[in-house]
Amino acid sequence: MKSSAIRQSFLEFFASKGHTIVPSSPLVPGNDPTLLFTNAGMVQFKDVFTGQDTRPYTRAVSSQRCVRAGGKHNDLENVGYTARHHTFFEMLGNFSFGDYFKQDAIKYAWEFLTQELKLPAEKLWVTVYAEDNEAFDIWHNDIGVPKERIVRIGDNKGARYASDNFWAMGDTGPCGPCTEIFYDHGEGIYGGPPGSPDEDGDRYIEIWNNVFMQFNRDEAGTMHPLPKPSVDTGMGLERISAVMQHVHSNYDIDLFQVLIGAAARETNTSDLANNSLKVIADHIRACSFLIVDGVIPGNEGRGYVLRRIIRRAIRHGYKLGARAAFFHRIVPDLAAVMGDAYPELVKAQNRVMDILRQEEERFFETIEHGMGILETTLKTLPAGGTFDGELAFKLHDTYGFPLDLTADICREASISVDTAAFDAAMQGQKNQARAAGKFKLGAGLDYAGAATTFHGYDTLAHDGSILALYRDGVAVNELTEGELGVVVLDHTPFYAESGGQAGDRGVLQGANGAFEVEDTQKIQAQVFGHHGVVKTGSLVIGDAVLARVDEEARARTMRNHSATHLMHKALREVLGDHVQQKGSLVDADKTRFDFVQPTPMTAAQIREVEARVNAEILANAATQARVMPIEEAQKTGAMMLFGEKYGDEVRVLDIGSSRELCGGTHVARTGDIGAFKILLETGVAAGIRRIEATTGTGVLAYLGETEKNLGAIAQLVKATPADAAERVAQLMEHSRALEKELDRLKSKLASSAGDELVQQAVDIKGVRVLAAQLDGIDARGLRETADKLRDKLKSCALVLGTVADGKVSLIAAVTADVTSRIKAGELVNFVATQVGGKGGGKPGLAMAGGSEPGQLPAALASVQAWVQGKLT
Ligand code: ALA
Repeated sequence: MKSSAIRQSFLEFFASKGHTIVPSSPLVPGNDPTLLFTNAGMVQFKDVFTGQDTRPYTRAVSSQRCVRAGGKHNDLENVGYTARHHTFFEMLGNFSFGDYFKQDAIKYAWEFLTQELKLPAEKLWVTVYAEDNEAFDIWHNDIGVPKERIVRIGDNKGARYASDNFWAMGDTGPCGPCTEIFYDHGEGIYGGPPGSPDEDGDRYIEIWNNVFMQFNRDEAGTMHPLPKPSVDTGMGLERISAVMQHVHSNYDIDLFQVLIGAAARETNTSDLANNSLKVIADHIRACSFLIVDGVIPGNEGRGYVLRRIIRRAIRHGYKLGARAAFFHRIVPDLAAVMGDAYPELVKAQNRVMDILRQEEERFFETIEHGMGILETTLKTLPAGGTFDGELAFKLHDTYGFPLDLTADICREASISVDTAAFDAAMQGQKNQARAAGKFKLGAGLDYAGAATTFHGYDTLAHDGSILALYRDGVAVNELTEGELGVVVLDHTPFYAESGGQAGDRGVLQGANGAFEVEDTQKIQAQVFGHHGVVKTGSLVIGDAVLARVDEEARARTMRNHSATHLMHKALREVLGDHVQQKGSLVDADKTRFDFVQPTPMTAAQIREVEARVNAEILANAATQARVMPIEEAQKTGAMMLFGEKYGDEVRVLDIGSSRELCGGTHVARTGDIGAFKILLETGVAAGIRRIEATTGTGVLAYLGETEKNLGAIAQLVKATPADAAERVAQLMEHSRALEKELDRLKSKLASSAGDELVQQAVDIKGVRVLAAQLDGIDARGLRETADKLRDKLKSCALVLGTVADGKVSLIAAVTADVTSRIKAGELVNFVATQVGGKGGGKPGLAMAGGSEPGQLPAALASVQAWVQGKLT
């Protein structure tokens, strides 16, 4: 049975039992920054289990794409070494939301396996959570599984509820005891039943997990009973396919055989059993689907996990002999085997290939060097040895080798990496970078006092007293006039840089001195450092100060920040939901916003985004900030950014029709933004675009500047600004006409000068001889003049020269009755050789050039004598 048929029969079986077929959700969980990737079928239903969300159905079935890399469930390191670990896999699952519970869940699972798939009952084993007598009894009494094939598993992982038979999505969220179904691959394979000492062998393989969701675990670890007990199940499509296709390894199933074949083709590998092919076949699935779902290779968060998987795949290709980008070429093979079930993959195929290819090309630039260093070093180490952590850091920093890649390569030689030294080197580099920025010292300061209370949402001036002072990064009691330093206050209206919004500027005014704040940075999460310089007098710890934020700068920053939310929303509406914020910087002058978008925006799209934002500004709706628990905020549908650390309590900002979690400061009404203008749209990395935009006074400044420039142009061309473009076009047309006319006149002038030359010809033995210089004439004019002179002079030999752009052009003409004695080619060559050139041509007409204009008069003067010589 093909894997696609198994997927289909699972969905249909549960549909026949009243389940709604729900499509797979993306790998990046919507609105859930607690989770790196969707790692189980239940993720899209998390809020339904906890009762925060409802659906029109109480039974659901899905085939969910999952990634288990880099998060709580991380299988990356095992891929390629075992028969059934994957970074990407598909999870078949049926779900009950307060509908059926243990009894039906177990019954359905058994019926599907033994009647739909016709697996022999005696091949199946089950485990139950040790305390779950109910599940045990259902298996034994209702289903008839003999007691010796039902294994109780307790808390075998070192803590209460830490068990192979207690499942949790993450550290918090819905969880509960589970019952697992195992398939016995038979005596030929090593391994013991679950719970036995040999359980890690490959003989008894877990194929299906049925979780009885009963609790919601909070951050403190407390278990709260769920409103309605529910069911969450998961069966790996790859594992059940292996069973159904009578193979032991997942990599032997139909789908993987196609991908392994493609990997072999692209790496020129004939040994299809090579483990590196399995790694590549696994990784192309994870990487492609992650990119489909909006992840871009990068240096942090999800992007870095993706980069690590790509580089691991490349390294295995390298091991097989690939020396140039190959990985992306497997994408069409993947689309061919999985595109039917996941049409979004087919749609995004070109984008996926482009992003992978760029990432590959980048890593192939450094991999050779990196591998060289690694292999040379590994040769010097005995098995069981340790690889230098600093060298591992250098490989990371200079050659782009993620730590786990180095560790993976070392592991093949039974060598471990000194990760502590790696971490220390990494930290050292961070400290250095921090020390390099004068005002970014905040986070490095030693501080153990009280926290700062922030009042800047409501007021821009507030009294505070000085809790600590720093000079050159060291705590001091006093700062005096002219000294740079950092001031910590107990209360402040100054916003400290965070969430992309720049720190406030302003003044701290004390009784004995004034401090100009140039930037505000957090020293700790709740401790604000005011960075700047003492303008007058001095500041001493304990002093009371009036802290006053620069109102103008703050107002401009707020406008830019609020507009950023509106722009983010407009970008998603105009370009699509793949738009995701990848970085932002908001200050008084502008907002800079980086986002996922494969192609440059068109002028029309830019105008559309501007129009949408400006429409929201004109609607002048009141903005609203509400503080609420994060769970509640998730329910409001507010946009959340992955990688941001949100506390238990968050601020939900409604600005116009946008809703985002944000700690920044914002305008009271959208109209306060004034106006919005995009100043720049450009690319910053593969698949990432950047917009710079401005608002309010920034737009006025932009208009002022534009108007000034246009005004200057209009004045110069004597037109109104509105007519200036047309007037400039006319002027350009006019000047082109003038240039043409000028050329014509020059030629004409030169040829009339030619008429005068007739007089200058001298008679030598009946041949009229002329050698003259003409200026301001082009090659065509020169030739026309020569023709004309020849006609007028009848029997003649003449040579004309002209100089333009530092070069000499020459032409010689000889009438037919004279060519037996004087050849034009010889004549022109005689002159040309004297001006640093060479030439030749027919007896009647010849041209030449030269590079020494200074020699031309003398060369022309020598012509008479030369002709004389020829004629005697
Ligand atoms: N959510 C359960 C699992 O992933 C079914 O095993």
